[in-house]
Amino acid sequence: MKKRLLSGIRTSGVTHIGNVFGAINQWVQMQNDYESFAMLADLHALTTPSEAVNIEKKTLETAKLYLALGLNPKKTTIFVQSHVPQHAELSWILGTIARLGELERMTQFKDKSLGQESINLGLFAYPVLMAADILAYNADAVPVGEDQKQHVELTRNLAERFNSRYGQTFKIPEYISQKSSARIMGLDDSSKKMSKSAENPKNYIAVLDDETTIREKIKSAVTDSGSEITFSEEKKPAVSNLLTIFSLASGKSVGDLEKEFTGHGYGQFKEVLSDALVAYLSPIQEKYKNISNSEIKNVLAEGAKHAQEVAGKTLGEVKKRVGLLQI
Ligand code: TYM
Repeated sequence: MKKRLLSGIRTSGVTHIGNVFGAINQWVQMQNDYESFAMLADLHALTTPSEAVNIEKKTLETAKLYLALGLNPKKTTIFVQSHVPQHAELSWILGTIARLGELERMTQFKDKSLGQESINLGLFAYPVLMAADILAYNADAVPVGEDQKQHVELTRNLAERFNSRYGQTFKIPEYISQKSSARIMGLDDSSKKMSKSAENPKNYIAVLDDETTIREKIKSAVTDSGSEITFSEEKKPAVSNLLTIFSLASGKSVGDLEKEFTGHGYGQFKEVLSDALVAYLSPIQEKYKNISNSEIKNVLAEGAKHAQEVAGKTLGEVKKRVGLLQI
């Protein structure tokens, strides 16, 4: 039997190349070997109301990007989180075994609540819903970027706690990441990750950025002191990040790129990097444009049906385990 994969993206902000290199490209590769589920996390989008404008539009847009980036609905069940009510149900049940202390330690929660006047319960419970997303499918593998590793670890802990309290129910999922692409840094500040909620659009290259925007953003990307184009995360974090992006977009190794640009300045390097990004993103954008709303809605309707069946089975089992009345 094939192993199961589940992952997802929050449908707020913009989908950027960090999401693609860190997460989606892994799902595309793995869909041949895994029974795959790719979710659009619209309930998670609600936890940051300021970013969550137009969730409906963002959800359709991100779903179309899933297809344009190579997810195949015949191999991957593509679905919207809010279309499968079992996620919220399981989240409640897992919430009864999650501890305040462990949720307070989540770095994403700390970052996102920093400076907020009031913090909503949804933001605090975000990782519990994420655990429910994963455990509702008994996923073996969760391919995500490094920023989500802590959430997957919490999921493992909750699964183990549930199993030891109520009896073997959940598989313990594995965090999967690619070393080279797990953490793409911001173009405006190489000490912070590229982020969909960045206030400055020069922080990221969005998958749907046009050629002029890509060139402008790369031109204004920060570099490091010295003029050599060499990879060293400690000494040259900004240039190393650009080299990583270049390598992922072009398929060339970082070593080959270092050789290619020996003796060249940042200006020329950035121009060729922009060419590579444009060449990488344009066919994806072309595919995206050709997917109609009705086509994607059909995919999502099929996906919801299948996801509900699978998650429904798990929830049936979970409710029995915790002792809820069955009629
Ligand atoms: P989100 O939308 O913030 O990020 C989506 C995916 O992109 C990865 N990612 C990055 N990878 C490398 N470099 C970056 N700069 C970068 N920024 C983002 C994230 O690690 C993630 O894999 N909580 C999830 C959504 C989610 C989920 C789930 C994922 C909800 N339920 C269940 C897996 C399983 C998130 O923050 O997505």
